[in-house]
Amino acid sequence: MLSQESIEKIDRELAKYPADQRRSAVMGALRIAQTEKGWLATETIEFVANYIGISPVAAYEVATFYNMYDLSPVGKHKITVCTNLPCALSGGYDAAEYLKQKLGIDFGETTSDGKFTLCEGECMGACGDAPVLLVNNHTMCSFMSREAIDKKLAELK
Ligand code: FES
Repeated sequence: MLSQESIEKIDRELAKYPADQRRSAVMGALRIAQTEKGWLATETIEFVANYIGISPVAAYEVATFYNMYDLSPVGKHKITVCTNLPCALSGGYDAAEYLKQKLGIDFGETTSDGKFTLCEGECMGACGDAPVLLVNNHTMCSFMSREAIDKKLAELK
């Protein structure tokens, strides 16, 4: 279900915890599975749960709680824009509207070429850097003016 490379990465996550605390590796294991598959299908979550030795429901609870896990297919680049209040007061909404206009999609949608998915996000702990975007759950982009957004989209294309 997962590649040998991903299994080895999950084994390294598991090695960080005592043998009777394997469930602690679930977040890392889900992240590794999502990186390989692009998103987390039910059977992927079940595979991870079985591999770790926890119930599928316990893994599913984690996967549905955190918004970095994608439970349906997303574009090659998932762009999450923070629109919480501090960012909203510092250009977050403008950045979101500009991205919607540039990409021709709304929040929760993917461009027809499958390249971009746009999401609305919660505070990313970088309020002073607003507007902020998170690309593919990992790369934080700060001070995203319209010009900076143009540059970032060109880089990602
Ligand atoms: S409110 Fe946007 S990063 Fe905190």
